[in-house]
Amino acid sequence: MRHTSYIEISRQAYRQNMDFLKSDIGPKTEISVVVKGNAYGHGIENIVSLAEENGIRHFSTFSADEALRVHNASKSRSEVMIMGMLENDDLEEILQKGISFYVFEFERLNATIEIAKKLQVKAKIHVEVETGFHRTGFEWAEKEALMEILKENAAHLSLKGLCTHYAGAESISNYVRVRKQIKQYKRFKHWFKAQGINFEKYHTACSAATLLYPETKMDLVRIGIASYGFWPTQETYMYRFQSLAENNKNPLKRLISWKSSVMNTKSVKMGEFIGYGSSYMAPRDMKIALVPIGYGHGYSRLLSNQGKVLISGKIVAVVGTVTMNSIALDITDLAEVHKGDEVVIIGVQGELEITVASFGESSQQVNYELLTRLALDIPRSIVD
Ligand SMILES: Cc1ncc(COP(=O)(O)O)c(C=O)c1O
Repeated sequence: MRHTSYIEISRQAYRQNMDFLKSDIGPKTEISVVVKGNAYGHGIENIVSLAEENGIRHFSTFSADEALRVHNASKSRSEVMIMGMLENDDLEEILQKGISFYVFEFERLNATIEIAKKLQVKAKIHVEVETGFHRTGFEWAEKEALMEILKENAAHLSLKGLCTHYAGAESISNYVRVRKQIKQYKRFKHWFKAQGINFEKYHTACSAATLLYPETKMDLVRIGIASYGFWPTQETYMYRFQSLAENNKNPLKRLISWKSSVMNTKSVKMGEFIGYGSSYMAPRDMKIALVPIGYGHGYSRLLSNQGKVLISGKIVAVVGTVTMNSIALDITDLAEVHKGDEVVIIGVQGELEITVASFGESSQQVNYELLTRLALDIPRSIVD
């Protein structure tokens, strides 16, 4: 059965992004590809497969359910790391599958040790420390108590990582805050070392930190948005522009394209209203095309009378309100449009392109939000 729209993921673009990131990051640091939020809307299974083709063997998720999807999709026994939500009830399965996870509170640490003892396996943990993000992480004042538990239970714990996350590395306005965080992380690292506690990997950097603060790269970087072909912010790109190779000033490529087709066309007389309410009155005799995607698929209502898409190689405007399942386009000036003609919502058609950023700007969403709002049931496939 045909779906109303479909998403394509470009294998070639992914390879280019990975080549750039690997050379920029250097050989000493491992890349963990962040695949939370259904791999930023691209589909976990698609990205695990593409990433493994490109030599990636480490993935980061937010939650246990995402981690299991990665574990099942992996063909190379890649390491999976949960950075956020994990219920104690799921610990047994996670430990048995050898999935690693962040520990940022005593309650989870104690529950983990209990299950590890019961199963007689070593739990793979990453100790998260509070450096200034103020969401999760052990406090400086908790370090002695933490150290005692880690030492006492060394037989049941595999200390995979010491980690933190920066609050706002993507903007220079947070420079002082990020520098303070780096300093605080180093204090934790040295303190634990002095107590004889060593972690396998020290990791702190997301895409923005990796690209802007080289000292944060350490043993492993957790790369999300850049691997999907987006600079974390325009500021990040501007900051790095000078240092990019002359022949490769645009090294990050969008992987995702979103396409649909014309459902029907219709003539509308001047003075008639189009769609719900009265937000758009035809200023002349018009032809419109209906396209079966709407806010139910992730095309924001804020794009009512604002959105632009491509049809017959031309940019056309959304007229009237975006509904749950459809948008109407003004095709009055196009020569001929037929039912079934391709409509590009994100991507290239002929000479023109609708970027995720342009789409996001008119709906006031950042790339991250727009991508993760693409409905899960839109089929996604990899194209060469
Ligand atoms: C802990 C952690 N590390 C890394 C990332 C990846 O960030 P980015 O997509 O900006 O690379 C995230 C995403 O928000 C995160 O929460």
